Amino acid sequence: MKRNILITGGAGFIGSHVVRLFVNKYPDYHIVNLDKLTYAGNLANLKDIENKENYTFVKADIADLDEMRRIITEYKIDGVIHLAAESHVDRSIKDPFTFARTNVMGTLALLQAAKEYWESLPEKYEGKLFYHISTDEVYGALELTHPEGVEAPFTTKASSKDDMAYGEEFFTETTKYNPHSPYSASKASSDHFVRAYHDTYGMPTLVTNCSNNYGPYQFPEKLIPLFINNIRKGKPLPVYGKGENVRDWLFVEDHARAIDVIFHNGKVAETYNIGGFNEWKNIDLIKVVIKTVDRLLGRPEGESEKLITYVPDRLGHDMRYAIDSRKLQSELGWEPSLQFEEGIEKTVRWYLDNEPWLDNITSGAYERYYADMYGGK
Ligand code: NAD
Ligand code: TYD
Repeated sequence: MKRNILITGGAGFIGSHVVRLFVNKYPDYHIVNLDKLTYAGNLANLKDIENKENYTFVKADIADLDEMRRIITEYKIDGVIHLAAESHVDRSIKDPFTFARTNVMGTLALLQAAKEYWESLPEKYEGKLFYHISTDEVYGALELTHPEGVEAPFTTKASSKDDMAYGEEFFTETTKYNPHSPYSASKASSDHFVRAYHDTYGMPTLVTNCSNNYGPYQFPEKLIPLFINNIRKGKPLPVYGKGENVRDWLFVEDHARAIDVIFHNGKVAETYNIGGFNEWKNIDLIKVVIKTVDRLLGRPEGESEKLITYVPDRLGHDMRYAIDSRKLQSELGWEPSLQFEEGIEKTVRWYLDNEPWLDNITSGAYERYYADMYGGK
């Protein structure tokens, strides 16, 4: 079937994987990638597909309502997959306004433009979908009840150890929203607007909340690519607080596959949680990354552990995130495909094989931002 799909934020980390998957898998779809190309957007992420006939890139700001109206009408968009956002918690602590503008006002502008266009058509909302990509951080923080490790209540083949669950509780689709950071507050607000457009106007919307992603093309301000880059350069590895915080990690291509499955088979107005059942304390995860980089660079194993530098904790640092994705697994048959160690190996190899990509985006403005964060280290 011919479809015109708008993917926002397609030049970013997760968006570029989603765009690549859709462009290659669905030659009958016209994929319009809309991105403002902020510091986090990089068209080099999409070099391999930029000349495909079913692909168009449009540079625009989602908070510009008139532009959203024009683009959605011009390309006769019948499906939206909305990923564009300001995405880094540390930046949100320094500059919450940019987060409210893009994540809240931008999502609202996109919703409104899609609503107006779809309501102007004879078939209105039939065959349409506005799919909003969100985060597990909207649910708040879970406690670390078993710091020494415990039998995981839920395991899948993605979970390579049974002792990776650090508490009994998990975020489910019915967990109450309780965001703490400016980033998660802005994402929570946008999620509410998306649901409000369904509940008020009957617009077909859907929301998914995913855990921490890792993999190729992630901007090196987030933990894993930042540390790979710093290990390669022999720079300090800033561990916040005691390194005890827990995150649930999912390989980015598994997230992109979930988005594909949910876009095509998910139920309107539903929420699906997406996660890897793959919890790691930061300090343990960092040691796996160090071991892998050292091995692949031919250094003595663990040599780079000396780069670990404990720094003051992030303000309001959420202790633990853990997603229960059994609904998605049982209703739509999605499962994470990679064991964590395989995913990390693939990821580290990719960054080491793509040093020019890393060097290019870690120069200039990034260098100044990073120096400002860590006092020039
Ligand atoms: P990212 O920061 O790598 O990419 C965001 C993209 O959005 C960039 O290409 C940027 O240029 C674009 N953008 C920013 N502001 C814009 C604006 N005003 N108009 C148009 N484009 C704009 O982010 P990511 O990690 O790929 O995350 C993508 C989405 O997934 C976000 O909505 C994020 O909240 C969500 N998410 C991320 C994770 C994760 O671990 N990275 C986990 C769960 C959910
Ligand atoms: P991050 O990649 O920023 O994702 P999020 O905050 O959205 O979970 O951080 C992942 C974890 O790593 C989080 O607990 C904060 C911690 N962290 C550090 O210890 N040092 C760092 O330099 C960064 C960027 C993160």
